[in-house]
Amino acid sequence: MSIPTSVIHRPSITAASLALMFGAGFAAMSFPAHAQVSQPQAQVDALEGLFGVHPTARRSGAKGLCASGQFIGNEAGRGLVSSAMFSGQPVPAVVRFSLGGGNAKASDKSRSVRGLSFELKHANGEQWQSANVSAPVFFVAKPEQFAPFLQARSNDPATGKPNPERLKAFNEANPETTRQGAYLAKAPIPASYGAVQYWSTNAFEVTSPRNESRFVRWQFVPEAGLKGLTDDELKSLPDDFLADELRQRLARGPVSFALQFQVAQAGDPTNDPTQVWPDDRQLITAGRLVIDKVEPAAGVDCDRMMFNPLVLPNGIKPSNDPVLLARAAPYVLSLGRRLGEVKR
Ligand code: HEM
Repeated sequence: MSIPTSVIHRPSITAASLALMFGAGFAAMSFPAHAQVSQPQAQVDALEGLFGVHPTARRSGAKGLCASGQFIGNEAGRGLVSSAMFSGQPVPAVVRFSLGGGNAKASDKSRSVRGLSFELKHANGEQWQSANVSAPVFFVAKPEQFAPFLQARSNDPATGKPNPERLKAFNEANPETTRQGAYLAKAPIPASYGAVQYWSTNAFEVTSPRNESRFVRWQFVPEAGLKGLTDDELKSLPDDFLADELRQRLARGPVSFALQFQVAQAGDPTNDPTQVWPDDRQLITAGRLVIDKVEPAAGVDCDRMMFNPLVLPNGIKPSNDPVLLARAAPYVLSLGRRLGEVKR
């Protein structure tokens, strides 16, 4: 059930409050002082505008479930990233699988992205949070396109329906925002959260123990292989099957992913997640994410967590990708809104 947004208490995020949370440079960089509605606020409002408000649910990746396991780095990972995360000792992982978009009741057969988020906490204090999607590209190149992209797909207040002309005009003016949809239109609907590949789409800079820096993107490749649904399977399945499928799969054994780093060459764009890098770029398998339980570890309340892609371990830094740099604030805002709500 959705409730009118007007009845929800909404502390507004101003440039001043962002400066308190993230430092003066962040607020000054992202938001002109005269802005009435900050960019993170416009982004989260646009998610709610398209998907409705589903109390206590994430404004994106709303439907999903939490799991737990470990990350085990390998020698190649140790050579590439100077972080204890790759020591080879298992690092405990909280994992969340999700369905793209802000509709907590969406069908698992939807042609949207699936999400793989995780938090690793090393005993030495290093942390790594990450949220990845089942497409090699993201749907916007710049954070300013995020709210208009969603608004172009939302109901027109005058008619109560989406406006195809508005969408066409947006797509023509922002052709790079159609690439993720084009990929998803051709990709099979995943049969399992554990049988689909996930990409960071954003670029990061890794530094090795020998102090060599490289730009990378990462991907999580299911070790059991990829599996999409046939049309007949799609017809026979209920709208909610992914959570049960994962439980059944885990009853048979762990679900694992290889972490691969794709290494950029000079000239590959690090500031645009709508552009893939050429296929011949080196792929380095740096470790494995192994999931063994469909519940977070004791004492972890996954519903109260968020996965901030700027929380990075030693040896990994954000790139200059403006989409990556803009993610922390709307995640905090969404967390704030959902924690302030009561489930109905
Ligand atoms: C400007 C760009 C983006 C905006 C404004 C945005 C916004 C959001 C928001 C508001 C949430 C809900 C957070 C929460 O309540 O905890 C979210 C979740 C999520 N986002 Fe983004 N996002 C952006 C880019 C990306 C990118 C580039 C990816 C991956 C390629 C991504 C993947 C995810 C995933 C998987 C979740 C679910 C996280 C979970 O399981 O808790 N997002 N996003």
